[in-house]
Amino acid sequence: MSANRPEGKWDPGQYLRYGGHRLRPAIELFQRIDMDAPKTCYDIGCGAGEIAIAMTERWPSAEIIGLDASAEMLAKGRSAAGGEKVQWVEADIVGWTPNKLADVIYSNAALHWIDGHEHLFPHLMQQLSPGGILAVQMPLSWGQMSHRLLREVLADGNGGAGYGTEELRQSVGRKWVDDGDVYFDRLRPFADHIDIWECHYLQELSGDDPVLEWVKGSALRPVLTALGEAPASAFLAEYGAALREAYPKRSDGATLFPFGRLFMVARRK
Ligand SMILES: C[S@@+](CC[C@H](N)C(=O)[O-])C[C@H]1O[C@@H](n2cnc3c(N)ncnc32)[C@H](O)[C@@H]1O
Repeated sequence: MSANRPEGKWDPGQYLRYGGHRLRPAIELFQRIDMDAPKTCYDIGCGAGEIAIAMTERWPSAEIIGLDASAEMLAKGRSAAGGEKVQWVEADIVGWTPNKLADVIYSNAALHWIDGHEHLFPHLMQQLSPGGILAVQMPLSWGQMSHRLLREVLADGNGGAGYGTEELRQSVGRKWVDDGDVYFDRLRPFADHIDIWECHYLQELSGDDPVLEWVKGSALRPVLTALGEAPASAFLAEYGAALREAYPKRSDGATLFPFGRLFMVARRK
């Protein structure tokens, strides 16, 4: 496990609770890879491996590797229909170098967990064969109300005393995704074609406290693990109330949760 990787196990059930909204950008990114017959493709931070399995269908003669640090997520992928066609590898993306150059390196909603993008993105580009594609999507959730409230309640909640340690608050405060032009500059020395875009989805969620449930499947995992049981439930009550106010349930029962994502596809020169 990398020093940067937050503690707390990935829970495939909680993460995939909003599978539709979470899978859509993954598919939209996958469709932007213009490649007929790659030989070696990696899905790094593959999670439960939906796209790694889709790769085996799209490129049946390619070697497809799904890499993730979570044994639980990999187990889900391995047991899914078509999972037997993927090579599942439990490993950390930090310091990862493939055995041979890749034709496709794909990563959906994973690289924002890792620090040091100024080194990571050039490194990934250098693991591609000429003409190879790096395709990445990362959430732009850091600046959203849901994540601003997360930082605020951690810092000032609990009657002003805050929750957790200063170290936890700092790790949650880290701005995990830079602006698109910053990635353009990181990719440019290695790429002959770069496409970077943002997409803002107006997500319709249902049920009670759906935004809290959403965040529980991602950004809240390391926070809840670090807080421990009693402080975590007090924190959840306070954070949940703040989220209900910021994202009210409408009269039709739906809760709208706007969500931004940054996409990039770069071709190795
Ligand atoms: C939000 S999930 C995304 C999973 C999948 N790509 C998808 O789109 O559904 C993030 C995944 O990244 C993995 N991950 C996070 N940091 C990692 C690291 N340093 N090395 C390997 N995997 C990592 C987690 O284990 C998790 O499965």
